[in-house]
Amino acid sequence: MREDLQELLFSEEQIQTRVKQMAKQVARDYQEKNPVVVCVLKGAVLFMADLIRYMEIPLETDFIAISSYGASTKSSGVVRILKDLDRPIEDRDVLIVEDIVDSGLTLSYLRDSLLRRNARSVKIAAAFDKPDGRTVDITPDYSGFTVPNRFIVGYGLDYAERYRNLPYVGVLKPSVYEKEKC
Ligand code: PRP
Ligand code: MN
Ligand code: MG
Repeated sequence: MREDLQELLFSEEQIQTRVKQMAKQVARDYQEKNPVVVCVLKGAVLFMADLIRYMEIPLETDFIAISSYGASTKSSGVVRILKDLDRPIEDRDVLIVEDIVDSGLTLSYLRDSLLRRNARSVKIAAAFDKPDGRTVDITPDYSGFTVPNRFIVGYGLDYAERYRNLPYVGVLKPSVYEKEKC
């Protein structure tokens, strides 16, 4: 696992410290709102669990699965809902929890789709923001770390479903994905 990384970008301690800070800020903003906190499967699972654990306010959770990448390291631009929310969000304050904003395609699609269901508000919390990857104009309302335009894994971020369980984040060695190309 660790040997497959070229470089460590954020340690477990750095991530936890930052996520706690974010959680406090988000909790302050949503104190009286009983928000629906929406986890975007699967990448946001670790961030979601940590963020809501530290929020300590009344909230509800829901989960949506939406995919644009498949097993490739590049965005295909194809966005589809694999699993929808379980409950309506009409008149609710919704916070979308994402691991990373890269091209922005996933989030701009998702935000529009949730606004069309007449949510009262839709905001975005992203653990990582890769502004150099952007092809559509979208900025997370809460962002943990800005990351360089490199292929990173860990803390929910995968390469071909692997490395999500790393509690830290690093740059994947190109040899790992190059050797799997046909
Ligand atoms: C990744 C990541 C974000 C999205 C960001 O998800 O978790 O959801 O891509 O990329 P974008 O800004 O270019 O749309 P992925 O589709 O790989 O699914 P996963 O969360 O199950 O890994
Ligand atoms: Mn994702
Ligand atoms: Mg992925």
